Amino acid sequence: MLNWEDYHKEETTPASSAVLSMPTTPEQSAEEPAVASAAAPTPKLESVASSTDPMAKAIEAVEHIDIAAGLEELEMGAARVSVDEKAMINCRADLNQLVPFKYDWAWQKYIDGCANHWMPQEVNMTADVATWKNPEGLTDDERRIVMRNLGYFSTADSLVANNLVLAIYRLITNPECRQYILRQAFEEAIHTHAYQYCIESLGMDEAEVFNMYREVPSVAKKAAWSLSHTHELSDPNFNTGTPETDQTLLRNLIGFYAVTEGIFFYCGFTQILSMGRRNKMMGVAEQFQYILRDESMHLNFGIDVINQIKLENPQLWTPEFQQEAIQMILEGTQLEIEYARDTMPRGVLGMNAAMMEEYLHFIANRRLSQLGLPEQYAGAQNPFPWMSEIMDLRKEKNFFETRVIEYQTGGALTWD
Ligand SMILES: [Fe+2]
Ligand SMILES: [Fe+2]
Repeated sequence: MLNWEDYHKEETTPASSAVLSMPTTPEQSAEEPAVASAAAPTPKLESVASSTDPMAKAIEAVEHIDIAAGLEELEMGAARVSVDEKAMINCRADLNQLVPFKYDWAWQKYIDGCANHWMPQEVNMTADVATWKNPEGLTDDERRIVMRNLGYFSTADSLVANNLVLAIYRLITNPECRQYILRQAFEEAIHTHAYQYCIESLGMDEAEVFNMYREVPSVAKKAAWSLSHTHELSDPNFNTGTPETDQTLLRNLIGFYAVTEGIFFYCGFTQILSMGRRNKMMGVAEQFQYILRDESMHLNFGIDVINQIKLENPQLWTPEFQQEAIQMILEGTQLEIEYARDTMPRGVLGMNAAMMEEYLHFIANRRLSQLGLPEQYAGAQNPFPWMSEIMDLRKEKNFFETRVIEYQTGGALTWD
């Protein structure tokens, strides 16, 4: 049977009938250079051993790569993964094998996210700059809304991105979900870019805007709440595998997907989109439309992941833990209501803080029912039905139709 050692020996010592097998342990690997050079003292190897030439050293290094060491964490006996072996968390199957898919919805979201690709510089900001610089362009209350929201979002999307790549990614043990998380992480980078692009275009005080998450209480509280749910998981030594640690991961997913992206974004989105509907700051509003479209998918992905973990690990979803999840949604709603009051001390753009409070109760009820939890705000109605039209996926296609088609890329190519 031919193996890598045979290949090496055939090349260097044709007369040899080597029977060495592939090294399987680091110890064997460490001995190999001495054995090889003793058994096959060819001119080539001697020159490699004694050479300081970078090319010769590279050849030597490649010759002695121990492939077994790189595969140590894999289940060596079960090389091909079956669907049944795949799991959302604590999976032991090879995570480098994307297929066969277990969670088709995750792969579909990855495909849909790519089809929605956009970049902030493609949005025309000229009219916004003129409006912003004109003292009569906006009222003080409208300016406050633009400033506060750019202040919150410019940092919030970085918090979300950092949580994705530094906390969640390695703990979600499913390759198709990781594929979507990688796409989401890039989208978060685009969102941060979009806010930076708005701040720069409008000539705002960048230090003031980017430091609001530390300096403005209603912004700082939301950021601090999100951060409190990532600290433990971003410790490189944190691992899931016990009921307690698995629940810690679930808390993080609820905190970031259901509350941060599912509640904390909604007052700001509504305010900026309402501005755009009144033909003010249309460029900023268009950026927010694209971001909302992405965020709707992030939210839905996160809800699916949480529900899948519940399905696969029902022992985690105890009555006590459900109560804790409800508490998190209520806290998030309260923080967003405070943010609404701070950003809208008076009625503005056809809305006020009381209407936003009603809307946030409505949103919170939706998040609760999406997670299979009882609604907490009886009879809450949606005072902004146009927001639902934007987010309703069936209507979303109409709302964004021209852009969605414009942004469709290579995947639809045919050969006939
Ligand atoms: Fe985002
Ligand atoms: Fe997001």
